[in-house]
Amino acid sequence: MHIHYHTDGISTHEPRTNDLLESIFFQGNGYMGARGFSCEDQSCRPHQKGHYMAGVFDQLKPGITDMVNTPNFLGLTVKIGDQSLSEASISGFQQKLCFSDGVLSREYVAAFGQKHLKVKISRFFSLYDVHIAAIRLEITPLDFEGEITVLATLDATSCNLPIQDDQVKKNTETVRYVDTLALSELEDGGLAVYKTRITGIQIVQAFNLVLPASIVVLDKQRNSSAQGLDYQVTFLGKAGKTYILDKLVTVFTSRDLNGEPLQSAALNRLSLVRQKGYEQLLKENREEWARRWETADIEISGDHKAQCAMRWTVFQLIANNASGDSRVSIGARGLSHARYKGCYFWDTEIFMLPFYIYTHPEAARNLLLYRYHTLDAAREHAVKMSSKGARYPWMSSYDGSEQCESWDIGACEVHITADVVYGMDHYIRITGDTQFLLDHAAEVYLETARFWESRFTYDPRNDQYNMLFVKGPDEYCGVTRNNAYTNILAVYNLSLALDTLNFLKDRYRDVHDRLTGKLGLTEEECSKWRDIIKKAVIPYDKDKDLYLQDETFMLLEPLDVSSVKSDNIPLYHKICFDRLQRYRVLKQADLVLLMTLFPQKFTTAQKKAVWDFYEPITLHDSTLSYGTHALLAAQLAMKEKAWDYFCKSLYLDLEDVMNNTGNEGLHLAALGATWQALFFGFAGLRFEDNEPKAYPFLPDNWSGLRFTFWYKGRKWRFEAQRRDDNTVESNLHPVL
Ligand code: BGC
Repeated sequence: MHIHYHTDGISTHEPRTNDLLESIFFQGNGYMGARGFSCEDQSCRPHQKGHYMAGVFDQLKPGITDMVNTPNFLGLTVKIGDQSLSEASISGFQQKLCFSDGVLSREYVAAFGQKHLKVKISRFFSLYDVHIAAIRLEITPLDFEGEITVLATLDATSCNLPIQDDQVKKNTETVRYVDTLALSELEDGGLAVYKTRITGIQIVQAFNLVLPASIVVLDKQRNSSAQGLDYQVTFLGKAGKTYILDKLVTVFTSRDLNGEPLQSAALNRLSLVRQKGYEQLLKENREEWARRWETADIEISGDHKAQCAMRWTVFQLIANNASGDSRVSIGARGLSHARYKGCYFWDTEIFMLPFYIYTHPEAARNLLLYRYHTLDAAREHAVKMSSKGARYPWMSSYDGSEQCESWDIGACEVHITADVVYGMDHYIRITGDTQFLLDHAAEVYLETARFWESRFTYDPRNDQYNMLFVKGPDEYCGVTRNNAYTNILAVYNLSLALDTLNFLKDRYRDVHDRLTGKLGLTEEECSKWRDIIKKAVIPYDKDKDLYLQDETFMLLEPLDVSSVKSDNIPLYHKICFDRLQRYRVLKQADLVLLMTLFPQKFTTAQKKAVWDFYEPITLHDSTLSYGTHALLAAQLAMKEKAWDYFCKSLYLDLEDVMNNTGNEGLHLAALGATWQALFFGFAGLRFEDNEPKAYPFLPDNWSGLRFTFWYKGRKWRFEAQRRDDNTVESNLHPVL
């Protein structure tokens, strides 16, 4: 499979259905999005034609949700006589995904026996008005005159193929999460209303097929059945003439709080859309993408392929984020696949969030508001786990309840709670959004601090606090004691809660009193937090100045990594999870990640010691690992390692490095990690003493790197250029 890299897009000449291409050519506007399956494809692939909407979940089984594969409204195809496009033979095929406007287009010549039809079909999900999608079909009969039928459909057969959390289990049973409530014919199109079975979310889709004025229509037919709704128009096509037909679609769900009844919302918007027409909708969409690219773009000189791949990375981070919706986060596979049931993990706060903080602070704020809105669910989760305060679940969906079905991970990977807090603190430090601290974050800091207090176990013999029954980011460490990553983040969470209390007491006394009153916070609790901060166990080898991952790490059996792993395929496909828990190998970056989260807290020697010890035994069986390694390697000026890891992360999906992009979708955290490796690693940005500073470390083949970002309400521009003598000069300045 070959992908062509362009500065403004990717393309392929592969016309056949292919899971990998369908993942990579994903397009969306964050509110909704679709895998890159074709509009013309009428074949029955109801679970593969993935089409997802942020926050639209249904129940898979009691207490466990799944992201719904919503009914497909993209269908638009051509028939000549009885022969459909999927039966025609195709030549000169090209498919392109354009980054500057999110348009996915396919062009080719279809041979229906002796008759040749030139086809171009383009579609986009508007970033300007997220309730709109538009599909344009351009067809030219090259060497014949005769009847052409265009068929526009609403396909109600979509279903899911739920995948177990356990990465090696397979499933062949599909589930349908939506019932069709109504299918109605419109003057030039149709409307469908669906409802998710248990969560009761209603979805309405309405479309018009706009025909060229000059067309000679021979027949129009409409048909609805349990399969959905078809609207077909037959007209007389003349050789050499191009016919343009636009399918304009509006989509709303009962999640959209616009007060209007759903059907009228969809129909009103449809009449507006119809008035505007495809060109105007495209223009608005382009302008909105241009606004987003203005801050998000990254220019790399000297490496065309990396330039394109980096733009694709940014494109997908935008396309998978419902930037205006504070009731959703971003699933581990975004909207590109229902792997992990569409759930949200620490992937958002630790890996993806920085991209939004620095390029689109409102989007970052909304992602964090999702955590604030699910604080009550986190409180309930803490109670359920016999703890205090608020404990964020390892996996969550629309209501913030725990969705993880692997007991050890769900019960022990508690670091997520501090990761959420880290994300909030990161956002506030960079944006200076004190209001967010006052209205939302402070409460989260205090409630999560309470959780940590109850989660540490006091050991009176040694006057220490231990974190027992825990798992860090490295999921191959067994269930262990005192994972350093977790303990350091928990202590940071406790300190942040205390610092915030002091800050509020000094500067916002009313907020302080209201909050402490509401939470019933006592001085006794605060003094316990101070005690834990002083006495929490942090595993550390003084002689080697080396942080230890946890207290059982050195008991694990050493394993010669090169003897068991020679490619990038996760080892759990060869060695079972249970056995992997007893080897001294890491699934993914753990302490290496910690070193990148607190760049000032650790010395270069400590970072280097962590790298030297853990990197050789890290398997990178999680896609979160490569980008983090690239970042620390760049900060430690390890040129080759930084480059190798960066390329693995950058091309992870585009080149299917781990052989799972096709059947699992895009790895959103890896995209975020790639962005961070470039931003904090190669550009070397640091935000100390209230001022951005850059310490660039460009890969050898890059002659320049440029981008803009937000810092405390101001836009900044970073520019680095390689001089003739191979040194790099850089410039960092505010642009507003
Ligand atoms: C990783 C987790 C990650 C999850 C979702 C797992 O394989 O080990 O760290 O949160 O995937 O991306």
